Amino acid sequence: MLRYETAGESHGECLVATLTGLPAGIPISIDDLNRELWRRQQGYGRGGRMKIESDCAEVVAGVRHSHTIGSPVAIVIRNKDWANWTEALPVEDAGDAGDKQKPVTRPRPGHADLAGALKYNFKDARYILERASARETTARVAVGAVAKAFLREFEIEVLSHVIAVGSVRLGREARWEELVALSRKEEVLLGAVDAEIERKMKDVVDQAYRTGDTVGGVFEVVARGVPPGLGSHIAWDTRLDGRIAQAMVSIQAVKGVEIGHAEEGAASFGSAVQDTIHYDRERRRFTRGANRAGGIEGGITNGEDVVVRGFLKPISTLRRPLESVDLVTREPMLAAYERSDVCVVPAAGVIGEAMLAFVLAQAFLEKFGGDSLPETKRNFEGYLEQLKSY
Ligand SMILES: Cc1cc2nc3c(=O)[nH]c(=O)nc-3n(C[C@H](O)[C@H](O)[C@H](O)COP(=O)(O)O)c2cc1C
Repeated sequence: MLRYETAGESHGECLVATLTGLPAGIPISIDDLNRELWRRQQGYGRGGRMKIESDCAEVVAGVRHSHTIGSPVAIVIRNKDWANWTEALPVEDAGDAGDKQKPVTRPRPGHADLAGALKYNFKDARYILERASARETTARVAVGAVAKAFLREFEIEVLSHVIAVGSVRLGREARWEELVALSRKEEVLLGAVDAEIERKMKDVVDQAYRTGDTVGGVFEVVARGVPPGLGSHIAWDTRLDGRIAQAMVSIQAVKGVEIGHAEEGAASFGSAVQDTIHYDRERRRFTRGANRAGGIEGGITNGEDVVVRGFLKPISTLRRPLESVDLVTREPMLAAYERSDVCVVPAAGVIGEAMLAFVLAQAFLEKFGGDSLPETKRNFEGYLEQLKSY
């Protein structure tokens, strides 16, 4: 079973990820890993924190001579900002911390601050927000980069783009080549494939900057080259659509997920929504009239692109703070303000790629197994033969 865990506080020493269950022999490039981390940091509307950090992965276990060796992969990403927090978040209590602790007693609506402080019985939400912060997704993106390296061995690629910022929305489908071009850009504005739409998106972010507000949006993640047969219809927790949805909604600020054309489908008649089935005798393969299902039917991949959208609420921390209550005095107060992003939709798309890559790699290994990459490849090729002679 492929699984991963992350650890680390937003302003702590570092973020840590461990990834267990990969076969030996997967080529790993640190440059590719760092490129993914860089992509997560980009986008118009990011706050001051991203100017401090320039994320860099240190792989400290599980990879030797540029290949996985079958043992757990461990990755460390250091927080440069830690230098400013050594007194606020020491591992050992020095006893004289006082105000250096940077307490948060005015919980911010839309954050884990209040619910977490109640649950863990803290009168200060600092420890809660340190872990709830989306800084944690840096570790997820590192894991996703390794999952992508595995999938690439089977010609499966995962990319994303932004389809909406606030009410500005791309009104057409994006082509795969456009996503490839976006992923290679050295300067990222808002991650849209259409320059005119992207300009309008920027206007919305500028408006949010001007008014001390924030803005959300929608990203789309596409996986190309996925074989039919990943996931299963047989039980609620084996259905791949459910597993993908869980992974996407677990991203901080993602409040909804759509697989294929779910929203449009819900407003249409059945005859207009299903993807008709055809057969190409020359290529000896089944084809589909469209891909409104987003590549998954009955919880199983059907061989079409897997298409997933994540819906982000606007960032909760506002320069124009919302009403709150002090945890100690219970007096009405304005919520705490910490340096914050205004729009993160392109970054969330990159995180979405990582999550989809991980879930697909997990489902792929469930089906094809293997302790070494050649063994996984043999198993996969046997399955491709089965599909050919079906
Ligand atoms: C890439 C990324 C960056 C984020 N940056 C911020 C931020 O700077 N300020 C903020 O208030 N929320 C930020 N968020 C969202 C919060 O982490 C999130 O809203 C909060 O932890 C509460 O979780 P929930 O919205 O999923 O319920 C960010 C989310 C993502 C995906």
